[in-house]
Amino acid sequence: MKVLWVVAHPEQRSLNSALREEGVHALTEAGHSVQVSDLYAMKWKAVVDRDDFTDGLDERFVVPNALVAAYNAGTAAPDILAEQEKIAWADTLVVQFPLWWQGMPAILKGWFDRVFAMGFVMDTRPHPGATPRYGQGELEGKRALAVVTTGHGAESYGPRGINGPIDQILFPLLHGTLWYAGMSVLPPVVVHRAGWMPEEKYPAAAALVRERVLAIEETAPLPFRYQNHGDYDDDLVLRPEIDADAGGLGVHYLG
Ligand SMILES: Cc1cc2nc3c(=O)[nH]c(=O)nc-3n(C[C@H](O)[C@H](O)[C@H](O)COP(=O)(O)O)c2cc1C
Repeated sequence: MKVLWVVAHPEQRSLNSALREEGVHALTEAGHSVQVSDLYAMKWKAVVDRDDFTDGLDERFVVPNALVAAYNAGTAAPDILAEQEKIAWADTLVVQFPLWWQGMPAILKGWFDRVFAMGFVMDTRPHPGATPRYGQGELEGKRALAVVTTGHGAESYGPRGINGPIDQILFPLLHGTLWYAGMSVLPPVVVHRAGWMPEEKYPAAAALVRERVLAIEETAPLPFRYQNHGDYDDDLVLRPEIDADAGGLGVHYLG
C-alpha cells in the first residue's frame, strides 16, 4: 500500500503521537510506503482565505468557488498542492485525531477545507448526467481509515449513551467527506477513554491500531448507499419505497 497518514495532535509526547508511531512502524515493517502529514509539526494553515490563491482572486467568485478555479488552473497555494500530490500518490488515507468537542481538531478540519477542494475531489466541469459524488468521484478506488481517540468511555458512545453513537458523530467525516469524495471508507478505529490512559492499558490500544492498519486491504468498507445507483431521487432524497418511514443517518447504509 501507499499510505498517506494525516495526524492532528499538538504534542509529540501524546497518546496520539505514540499510536501514530505504532501504526506507521507496523506499515513500514510490513513493506508498505507511508508519508506522514503531521499538521501541527508542519504548522499547517487551517483557514481558507485569499492567500490561498497565488494567481490572485477572481473577484467574480466567492472564496470557495475561487478555490475550485485556482485548483483547476493549478494556482492554488503550494501547501495545498503539495497535500493534493500526496493524496494522488496514495492509495490509502489514514486520518488520525483526538475527538475534540465531538469533532476533529480545527487544524484537521482546515486540512479538509483547503485540500479537498471541489475541483480536486469532484470533477466540477459541466457534464451530462448525475454529479459524481457519494461513492463516486476523483478519489474513487482509494481507501480511507479514521483513527480516533476519545475521552469518554465506549458506553457513552453506545446507542443510549449521552454522547450519541460514535458512527453518527463521525458521519460528517466518514460519509459527508470521505465517501462524498468517492473513497471506500473502512469502519473507524476508536480508542475510548484515552485521556490520561494508564500505562497498563496502552499495549491493547497499540495492538488495536497495528492490527487494523495491517488489515486495511482485507477490511470490508462501510456499506454506504451510492448517490447514483438508483436509491435517491433527483433531490438526493432516499426513494420512498426504501426503508419507508425510516429517517436518520442509518438509512444511508445498505441493508
Ligand atoms: C479541546 C478538547 C475537547 C475535547 N472534547 C471531547 C469530546 O467531545 N468527547 C470526548 O470523548 N473527549 C473529548 N476530549 C478528550 C480527548 O478526546 C482525549 O483527551 C484525547 O482523545 C486523548 O488523547 P491524547 O492524550 O493523545 O490527547 C476533549 C479534549 C480536548 C483538549
